[in-house]
Amino acid sequence: MNITETAALIAHRRSIKPIDMDADKEVTDGVWQTLIECANWAPSHGHTEPWRFIIYRGGSRKYLAEALQSAYKEDTPEGEFKEEKFEKMGMNPLYAHAVVAVLMKRGDLPKIPVIEEIEAVACAVQNMHLAASAAGLGLFWSSPAVTYGESFAKFLKLGDDDRCLGLLYVGWPREGKEWPKGSRKPSMDKVTWK
Ligand SMILES: Cc1cc2nc3c(=O)[nH]c(=O)nc-3n(C[C@H](O)[C@H](O)[C@H](O)COP(=O)(O)O)c2cc1C
Repeated sequence: MNITETAALIAHRRSIKPIDMDADKEVTDGVWQTLIECANWAPSHGHTEPWRFIIYRGGSRKYLAEALQSAYKEDTPEGEFKEEKFEKMGMNPLYAHAVVAVLMKRGDLPKIPVIEEIEAVACAVQNMHLAASAAGLGLFWSSPAVTYGESFAKFLKLGDDDRCLGLLYVGWPREGKEWPKGSRKPSMDKVTWK
């Protein structure tokens, strides 16, 4: 491994939409183990290791889809309810091979600010996403408002100080689907040198 290869992998990482995934193509236990192991190497202040994952596969994806839909119904004021959004929430988990609920489990070190626990979980997700992209496996981080809401937190049985940070849709890209090209505004425009 060298810096050029690492930089190339980072630039290669892409979000692959659930609709572009082959739900039936198996993700082996070996691949799952590697993804989870990579996530687990994330840094955390105070070694709190606050990342937790609930992985919905097979029939449990339907159970998740229904939970998302009912949380959306419960949390959305009548005038803002969008049927199209509701339908999409019911379908997306079924397009993917698996859906990972990303959780932050607040540790018992009050001196560590919540923001740092959330940052650590984001690092874990990025590690997982990089490993998935290296394997050619699709992954998409989705965070509709409902995933941050109380109804969904109840469904996930989160503790009072824990958070859901969204869902990761995981699956091999459909046959013929090209790996998307990414783009970013120039990196140096985001830096101030002193
Ligand atoms: C914390 C987080 C939440 C995200 N939530 C959503 C989302 O709810 N809907 C969505 O379309 N994309 C979401 N994304 C994915 C971005 O759209 C995607 O990363 C961006 O378009 C860049 O594409 P790339 O990942 O292929 O480089 C999220 C990304 C992050 C980091």
